[in-house]
Amino acid sequence: MTVNHKIVFLGESSVGKSSLVIRFVKRKFSPYQEPTIGAAFLSKKLTHNNVHFKLQIWDTAGQERYHSLAPMYYRGSSAAFVIYDVTQKVTFEKSKKWIDELKKLGDPNVQIAFVANKIDLAENQKVSREIGQNFADENGLTFFETSAKTGKNVDKLFLQMLDKLPKN
Ligand code: GTP
Ligand code: MG
Repeated sequence: MTVNHKIVFLGESSVGKSSLVIRFVKRKFSPYQEPTIGAAFLSKKLTHNNVHFKLQIWDTAGQERYHSLAPMYYRGSSAAFVIYDVTQKVTFEKSKKWIDELKKLGDPNVQIAFVANKIDLAENQKVSREIGQNFADENGLTFFETSAKTGKNVDKLFLQMLDKLPKN
C-alpha cells in the first residue's frame, strides 16, 4: 500500500524553495536556479520506516504577482514548508505572513515546518537561530535550519515531516 501526501513549499522569492526540493528529489544543487514561474510540481516515491510514500510536491513561485495562486497549492496539503533566507530579514517577516495565511485558510490538520535556509552563509546571517526558533515555538511549528547548497538537514526536514503525517 502506498500513502499519498500533497506537500507545499511557500516563502518569498529566492529563499531557496526550488533548491530545497531539487536537493531532496534529485540530489543536486545549482547556484543558478531560476525563479519559478507559477509553480513547479515534482513527485517522489520513498520508503521510510517500512511505509511506502508517494509525495506530490508543489514548489510555489515566491514572486508577489503569483501570491493569489498559492491557495490552489496549499489547499488539501497535509504538509507545508515555509521557508526564509537567514541572510534576508524581509524574507523572515514575509514567512510569518505565510504562517498566518496557512493557519487561517489551510487545511485544519496541516503540519507546518518553519525553515531557515542558506545557513551555509553564516557570515551574512541577519536572522539569528534564536529568533527563528522563538517564532516557531510561539506558533507551535517545528523549526529547521537548512542549506540546499550543502544539503544540511534537507533529508531530515522531509523525513521528520513524514513521521508526523498520517500513514493511511
Ligand atoms: P522563487 O522560485 O522565485 O520563489 O525562488 P526560490 O525560493 O525557489 O529560490 P531558488 O531555489 O530559485 O534559489 C534562489 C537562489 O538562492 C539561487 O541562486 C540558489 O542557488 C540560491 N540558494 C538556494 N538555496 C541556497 C542555500 O542553501 N545556500 C546558498 N548559498 N544559496 C542558495
Ligand atoms: Mg523557485
